[in-house]
Amino acid sequence: MSEAISSFEPGEAFARRMDEEDPLRRFRDEFLFPSDAHGGPVVYLAGNSLGLQPRKARGYIEQELDDWARYAVEGHQKARHPWLPYHEELTEQAARLVGAKPLEVVVMNSLTVNLHLMMVSFYRPTRERFKILVEGGAFPSDRYGVASQARFHGFSREQAVVEVSPRAGEATVRDEDLAEAIAREGSSLALVLLGNVNYLTGQAFDIAAVTRAAHAQGALVGFDLAHGAGNLLLDLHDAGPDFAVWCSYKYLNGGPGTVAGCFVHERHAHAREIPRFEGWWGHDKGTRFSMPPTFQALPGAEGWQLSNPPIFQLAALRASLELFDDATMPALRRKSERLTGYLAYLLGRLPEGFCRVLTPSEPRRRGAQLSLRIERGAGNPRDLLPRLAEAGVVCDFREPDVIRAAPAPLYCSFRDVFRFVEVLERHARI
Ligand SMILES: Cc1ncc(COP(=O)(O)O)c(C=O)c1O
Repeated sequence: MSEAISSFEPGEAFARRMDEEDPLRRFRDEFLFPSDAHGGPVVYLAGNSLGLQPRKARGYIEQELDDWARYAVEGHQKARHPWLPYHEELTEQAARLVGAKPLEVVVMNSLTVNLHLMMVSFYRPTRERFKILVEGGAFPSDRYGVASQARFHGFSREQAVVEVSPRAGEATVRDEDLAEAIAREGSSLALVLLGNVNYLTGQAFDIAAVTRAAHAQGALVGFDLAHGAGNLLLDLHDAGPDFAVWCSYKYLNGGPGTVAGCFVHERHAHAREIPRFEGWWGHDKGTRFSMPPTFQALPGAEGWQLSNPPIFQLAALRASLELFDDATMPALRRKSERLTGYLAYLLGRLPEGFCRVLTPSEPRRRGAQLSLRIERGAGNPRDLLPRLAEAGVVCDFREPDVIRAAPAPLYCSFRDVFRFVEVLERHARI
């Protein structure tokens, strides 16, 4: 038994003690929880899908509504948070979240839009070097994205998209298989694009190692951090991928469909010749309003912006990013490892053949989420989810048979994890 596992105890008293000792416990009160049948907060383990609403989000949005009423067009300069530079207020916070320099990040668009914008610039296939390597079981939008980019350049999906899948009987991709595939594709490889964390299995890849391996073959590297931002301790600048994109409605609690994030490594910050789709918000701020006919890209990630951003969405996101700044990612990650370790420990105590955890067991290879394959004796996982919901537990189901449970460290407690496993065991047996 590892030291980490031996430091957990099975009873509820342990969970209570852990919550009392949790240095981040005050952040739970900063969020609004849906109610269970008894009027108490649900056990919310779906923050990997949609994060909870920060209490302050409503006030921050209302302030923008007030300023819109009061100032109308002049709000661009006169609002308490002037709208013209509003997105810049989030840049440093977003940079801290992903371990980047402010020059390297921008908050804009939605994830899939950003992914396409990045591929327009960083997937530039030639007849010899045209392949895109992805993990088998990548999120569908990423798969559609890479296949359509390949087709756009005249390659079929079959020709251009290489998938690295888990070995037969295994749930996650082995690091050595990924490295071997990158080396094998070698000079035909134009881009490596991985979801970090993989949405279905919860597997996290080593960004620095993948980047080194891909760069050694002359390929560029991008990461989809939809399940990584606000979850993993990221160091994008040092790890060195060429770009990354993420959404802000999962662990980042920015609200449904809210404005996303984008990272472009500093090495590309001043390369104005990189082909890109251009819009006026990516144009030099000094001359933007003199409306020149020729586009002059801003340095860094900002130079990929297209449109002026949605202020209400930015306001809600600001409410959440302030909490991340207050809590800090290293402290959140410390709690997260412990919380998810506790979840794995309790699941490991369930009767044999009940459910199988697909997510890697080493903390460095996963984030908050554990993906469970419900097995024999526990019934149909599709039926299980509504039963869990009735019992006040919210997690989610992904086809064909996976339940995902993610205790987000900002607002989940050790008691939440305890209650989840207790309810799971009770209801899976009915
Ligand atoms: C890994 C991953 N990539 C891409 C997306 C698509 O995001 P969007 O609809 O914001 O473009 C999602 C959505 O859940 C996702 O989980």
